Amino acid sequence: MKVTVVGAGYVGLTAAACLCHSGHEVSCIEKDQIKLAGLRSGRLPFFEEGLPELVHAGLAKGALRFGASLKEGLDAEVLMVAVGTPARPDGRIDLTQIYAVLADLVEQARSPLLIAMKSTVPPGFGLSVEQRFLQKAAVPLGYVANPEFLREGTAVRDWFQPDRIIIGGSDEEVIAKMARLYADLKAPLLTMDIGSAEMVKYAANAFLATKISFINEIANLCELVGADILPVARAVGLDRRIGGQFLAAGLGYGGSCFPKDTSALDFVSACNGYAFNLLKAVIEVNNRQRLLVLRKLKKALGRLTGITVGVLGLAFKPGTDDVRESPALDVINLLLDEGACVRAYDPLALPKAGDFLPASVFLAGGALDAAAGCHALLVVTEWPEFIDLDWMRVKQLMCPPYLVLDGRNCLPAEELKKNGFLYLGIGRARYA
Ligand code: UGA
Repeated sequence: MKVTVVGAGYVGLTAAACLCHSGHEVSCIEKDQIKLAGLRSGRLPFFEEGLPELVHAGLAKGALRFGASLKEGLDAEVLMVAVGTPARPDGRIDLTQIYAVLADLVEQARSPLLIAMKSTVPPGFGLSVEQRFLQKAAVPLGYVANPEFLREGTAVRDWFQPDRIIIGGSDEEVIAKMARLYADLKAPLLTMDIGSAEMVKYAANAFLATKISFINEIANLCELVGADILPVARAVGLDRRIGGQFLAAGLGYGGSCFPKDTSALDFVSACNGYAFNLLKAVIEVNNRQRLLVLRKLKKALGRLTGITVGVLGLAFKPGTDDVRESPALDVINLLLDEGACVRAYDPLALPKAGDFLPASVFLAGGALDAAAGCHALLVVTEWPEFIDLDWMRVKQLMCPPYLVLDGRNCLPAEELKKNGFLYLGIGRARYA
């Protein structure tokens, strides 16, 4: 099929390259000229494992093209909208980019087209699209909600091995077209009304965020009652009704999705006169969880003025260079406010993090460099290279009391303790 994807961000570019790999002819529209020039010569604007290979293959066989304006993609059967929907300070979603695409489409479309909404839009949004936009077009335009469930870092794998495909729409012909688009993916295809499809996306992300905040609450309680969150989470997760994923206690969730989507769902609830108290608590617990670092450091070291702290990991999770809403950025600002000196390192995210961090933060060339001269070392992102570090070398480079605060419970606690580190974890009474 001929497909156009509008937006070459994490979702749009993954969708474009993967659809192309599945045999579709894809045009990907990106209005940022710098990004566009890079993409045309095979350079991706972000790190995503496996994606460059797919983009290069698509470009080489001529089945993937990058264009600057919608006009270049109007001859498609399906047009996927994957533009950004950033959060506003009050939690509301900024739909400006979506409105602009829909308005352009209505004005420019000269042949029938099916619009598939991949961007995350608030539940209820799609219901207004028909009246507000589609009716004004000169040709018939269809609309389906088609939310995505891709994780950064594993987006390509998630695309080809989805747990489910969601199509929100009622027209049978339209649903058949979407089914053809995803014909090679082996996953249940669930059809429902547009509003429900939009809600699936928010409910899924809010539930995963709830699991994380829940396990963080249990972790905090473990410290108080003398328990250890690691065996607790493992045992609880083995209950198949609960499942073991998203039960890793730590400094909480970040990224461009969970913080934004939970706030947006809370906002939608409030707009509908509903107080979503559970969700409010999930958000509050997550915000509080980052502050743990400061409390633990102060308890162990006293005042932080003049203390040097190494921060390992700036990306919001391993496998990505994305620092949006990353706990590390908040933690660093808190440390600076307390008068600490900060040396930071991340295997991939240093260039992006550099744009957000104050100039006083020393950006180290490696993990050992970050550790040099530090009284305390914080692991904020569980990159494998931190787990595999030569910790004896780290100790030689650090200063007493050789404090290691493992914000993701990913290091061998007992081994570090035996080797003279003051090891602290999250939710582990023995290492609290
Ligand atoms: C998330 C969802 O997992 C995807 O299904 C969804 O498509 C995507 O948002 C989106 O809405 O576009 P992503 O934000 O890429 O994907 O990352 P996750 O792997 O879900 O992790 C989110 C955050 O939760 C990270 O900061 C991670 O460190 C944290 N996390 C995750 C925990 O603190 N504990 C866990 O057990 C799991």
